[in-house]
Amino acid sequence: MLAIIGGTGLTEMTGLEVIRRHSVETPLGAASTGVLQGTLEGRGILFLARHGHPHKLPPHRINYRANLWALKQAGATRIVGINAVGSIDPTLQPGALVIPNQLIDYTTGRESTYFDGRFRPLKHIDFSWPYDNSLRNTLVAAGRQAGETIENGGIYGCTQGPRLETAAEIARMARDGCGLVGMTGMPEAVLARELMLPYACLALVVNPAAGVTEAEITMSEIEAALDEGIERIKRVIGALLKV
Ligand code: HPA
Repeated sequence: MLAIIGGTGLTEMTGLEVIRRHSVETPLGAASTGVLQGTLEGRGILFLARHGHPHKLPPHRINYRANLWALKQAGATRIVGINAVGSIDPTLQPGALVIPNQLIDYTTGRESTYFDGRFRPLKHIDFSWPYDNSLRNTLVAAGRQAGETIENGGIYGCTQGPRLETAAEIARMARDGCGLVGMTGMPEAVLARELMLPYACLALVVNPAAGVTEAEITMSEIEAALDEGIERIKRVIGALLKV
């Protein structure tokens, strides 16, 4: 069953007919919220609000291990994470939808593995290509079917937050090749891989990253871009359910 992890601006799926609300408790502690199981446009779907509902958890406080575990327990077989991002690549304007194919993890101190020698014995998994290519391609096709322009590929840099970055940090990330910056893409992607769940990211650009333009980054511009973009994301998910 397809699972959606809703990011900032997507704490509810309108149109979702809820059949069951799974428990928030997992062997790894509490998930951000109980996984909602239901139907959307007649198809089975799972939904989890990454920051809780209402939005309360900052990126570094999210129990990613519990979230991914909860989704697997609830029957997820593939996962799409929705992420609001800043654009480092100046050709990506607010409103752009991007499906990255690589990531760089700049976070620190997050519980980022099940194979920690305590919960599970140590194991090193392959993560050369962090996103599932077949799910990425299906998502690209679904997006285009929904009439959206989808940027296929790009490097997502995950920062610790909750503060935004300095202009020098973003310049360094640009030198590293990052086109997008967000705070929640990791360890979500690696935990999905550890659970052998195909995972892809659908990123919505909500602001140019620090120093990319002269202007200060404001919450009001981010919120306006989210308001405008979330409906389009919902259409892409609707199309994904049909392919
Ligand atoms: N930086 C990090 N995370 C973000 C940003 C940003 O500029 N915009 C939205 N999420």
